[in-house]
Amino acid sequence: MRLAPPVGLMALSIPAIAQLVPSPTYNPPPAASGTVKSSSSPNPQWSNVLGNAFWFYDAQRSGNLDAGAYPNRVTWRNNSAMQDGSDWNLDLTGGWYDAGDYIKCLFPLSNTLFALSWGALTHGRGWDLAQQSAYLDSTLRWGFDWMMRAHPSDDVLFVQVGDSTIDNSYWGGDQNIPTPRPSYPINSSSPGTDAWASTAAAFAMASLLYTPGVSYVPISGASPPSSPSLGNSTYASELLSHAKTLYATANQTRPFSLFAHSIPAVASAYTATNYTDKLAMGALSLALATNESAYYADAYNFYQEFALTGSNDPWNWDSRYPALYVLFVEAAKTRPNLATGAGLAVNLTGWQTEAEGWFDRIVNGEDSKQHFMTPGGLLWFEGWSDESSLIEAMSASMLFYKYAPLASTSNKTSQYQEFAQNQVAYMLGNNPMSAVYLVGSHPNSPQNPHSAPASGGDNINAIRTQPPVEAHVLYGAMVGGPLQNDKFWDWRDDWVQTEVALDYNAVIPFLASWQLINDSPDPYYVNVTANTYYVPSGDPCDAALPCNGTGNGGLSDGAKAGIGIGVILGVGLIIAFIWYIRRDQIARWWRSGYVRPH
Ligand SMILES: *[C@@H]1O[C@H](CO)[C@@H](O)[C@H](O)[C@H]1NC(C)=O
Ligand SMILES: *[C@@H]1O[C@H](CO)[C@@H](O)[C@H](O)[C@H]1NC(C)=O
Ligand SMILES: *[C@@H]1O[C@H](CO)[C@@H](O)[C@H](O)[C@H]1NC(C)=O
Ligand SMILES: *[C@@H]1O[C@H](CO)[C@@H](O)[C@H](O)[C@H]1NC(C)=O
Ligand SMILES: *[C@@H]1O[C@H](CO)[C@@H](O)[C@H](O)[C@H]1NC(C)=O
Ligand SMILES: *[C@@H]1O[C@H](CO)[C@@H](O)[C@H](O)[C@H]1NC(C)=O
Ligand SMILES: *[C@@H]1O[C@H](CO)[C@@H](O)[C@H](O)[C@H]1NC(C)=O
Ligand SMILES: *[C@@H]1O[C@H](CO)[C@@H](O)[C@H](O)[C@H]1NC(C)=O
Ligand SMILES: *[C@@H]1O[C@H](CO)[C@@H](O)[C@H](O)[C@H]1NC(C)=O
Ligand SMILES: *[C@@H]1O[C@H](CO)[C@@H](O)[C@H](O)[C@H]1NC(C)=O
Repeated sequence: MRLAPPVGLMALSIPAIAQLVPSPTYNPPPAASGTVKSSSSPNPQWSNVLGNAFWFYDAQRSGNLDAGAYPNRVTWRNNSAMQDGSDWNLDLTGGWYDAGDYIKCLFPLSNTLFALSWGALTHGRGWDLAQQSAYLDSTLRWGFDWMMRAHPSDDVLFVQVGDSTIDNSYWGGDQNIPTPRPSYPINSSSPGTDAWASTAAAFAMASLLYTPGVSYVPISGASPPSSPSLGNSTYASELLSHAKTLYATANQTRPFSLFAHSIPAVASAYTATNYTDKLAMGALSLALATNESAYYADAYNFYQEFALTGSNDPWNWDSRYPALYVLFVEAAKTRPNLATGAGLAVNLTGWQTEAEGWFDRIVNGEDSKQHFMTPGGLLWFEGWSDESSLIEAMSASMLFYKYAPLASTSNKTSQYQEFAQNQVAYMLGNNPMSAVYLVGSHPNSPQNPHSAPASGGDNINAIRTQPPVEAHVLYGAMVGGPLQNDKFWDWRDDWVQTEVALDYNAVIPFLASWQLINDSPDPYYVNVTANTYYVPSGDPCDAALPCNGTGNGGLSDGAKAGIGIGVILGVGLIIAFIWYIRRDQIARWWRSGYVRPH
């Protein structure tokens, strides 16, 4: 069992795990400052968006909060979960809580760290402009150092710490987090191709970012953070060695499997749809980090074998398709030797066609069943956006911005940038609610993010109302977001709309960095009149608060009775209609003794 050192000692022995120490210390300004217009460069409002988005990761920290490069910035957080990993005699303390509660989940974290690293690789100059490069370094190291501890040997990878059932029945502060907090590993007898490959992709991308003087310039003028430099060959090779063994394990272990199928106890938190796109992402990221064509050949073979072409899915913890397309274009542009070394065509045009297919189907409103715009103008992915709408729109925006300079025509370049600009403006206040969906950025920001530590509440049966005012401002957190009708209920118990998560915030720093590099004017929110957001009337009817009477937002008895009568009438009409159009078939079944036709 590990024991926490006494407080006095802890303050003296802060291990310097990051090479850059922030100076000056950044602390978020009060929300009221979101109405102050500015015209200086670099833009202070966009710098705050970037700085706050990173501050959120500090607020999510688990373990010894002073174990990083600088003392804890979030005064209302305490050291917590100091025994994590003890059930396996390992130190799995640290890392981050995944969302509004207290489990630690590796799989969505791997995509978060991939997104942060990949964004900084091409748009790192924005972190310099915002004076946030030291926070980038310490945030990445806080995450990757934990992932290294979660990967103690080649095939063993801890995918979750904490039991979802125990965790879901607790709502309270960080001092009474319920135990036990079991840790769940995958290994060669309980495999998880998706987790191994996705984690390999993150390690590989960060290794590239930390390579001193890295040459990765698919976009003219793009660069990793330069001043001061992140480059550190020791750290880059540590990261790469984890990437290689994880990927080799993923590539060799048969049958390919999902970690959530191997460990049913973690399935309720994150179950991926498939491992195929993650395998290709892992291989391609390793190809870029090593320059070895064998990895490129794997990526290409997975793309072919699993028919990864033509997806309309978003980019998120589960689906990697569009990010994969963009990464293939970057590879063709910046490392053509990878393809030729594998005996393949570089085919920049072909990869552009693949990526632009995804972008154009969105901007031209094709495949409108799979994605479309809400009436208020938010990009919506059917079947994905209904449990956290903003992440899908914002991760798409990162891809639009990142890809735009690589597009085949200048028209597309401007079209893609404009599309992303509109999505970001929606998130920052240009929406029917006049809501600014980053907590603490403007008076119209959500006041009630679904976060147990920030809320100050400890009554799981009164999450919305106790306490009436959220105890702490969770600066920089992007909430789940509005429903398909653009309405947003700022209710703490509605986790669909108000929950926060590591992966929700993963693309915000990039989005702000892009604006800083391009010297954009103020974010939209400076023009939003303060205190013009109101909770809509009626009930949300989402997965958190369904309108069938189970949620706090349930209907009155009269409304339920009305719906009941409506349902009975509706079902009757449908039966009558089916009977009418299928009357010949029904007559045949009747005659043949109810044998179902095939
Ligand atoms: C480079 O990273 C290694 C590994 O994390 C660390 O020990 C070392 O202090 C870093 N070097 C510098 C110059 O900060
Ligand atoms: C941190 O500890 C203090 C003192 O025990 C407590 O008041 C506070 O609520 C704790 N913070 C959280 C997020 O639980
Ligand atoms: C492999 O992982 C499974 C599932 O987490 C676990 O039950 C088992 O103990 C692990 N095996 C070893 C040898 O660690
Ligand atoms: C990979 O190749 C690029 C040029 O194609 C080069 O600049 C870079 O240093 C190489 N990286 C490694 C790790 O060999
Ligand atoms: C991945 O596995 C395939 C099939 O076993 C093999 O041909 C390939 O060489 C492996 N990739 C690497 C980089 O080792
Ligand atoms: C994943 O995709 C592959 C190839 O398309 C398919 O064979 C496999 O059944 C899928 N696995 C799951 C878990 O959906
Ligand atoms: C290039 O990519 C296009 C579109 O994906 C594909 O149709 C074509 O066969 C590729 N050409 C080569 C030589 O690989
Ligand atoms: C490019 O955009 C301009 C202005 O929107 C339009 O007039 C022109 O037709 C477009 N060109 C192509 C090739 O689509
Ligand atoms: C805010 O309003 C001013 C004046 O109408 C306008 O010039 C500016 O472009 C607007 N800024 C944003 C971010 O919309
Ligand atoms: C109400 O809907 C929720 C979410 O769809 C579901 O979990 C629950 O079982 C439903 N309850 C009833 C009584 O239908």
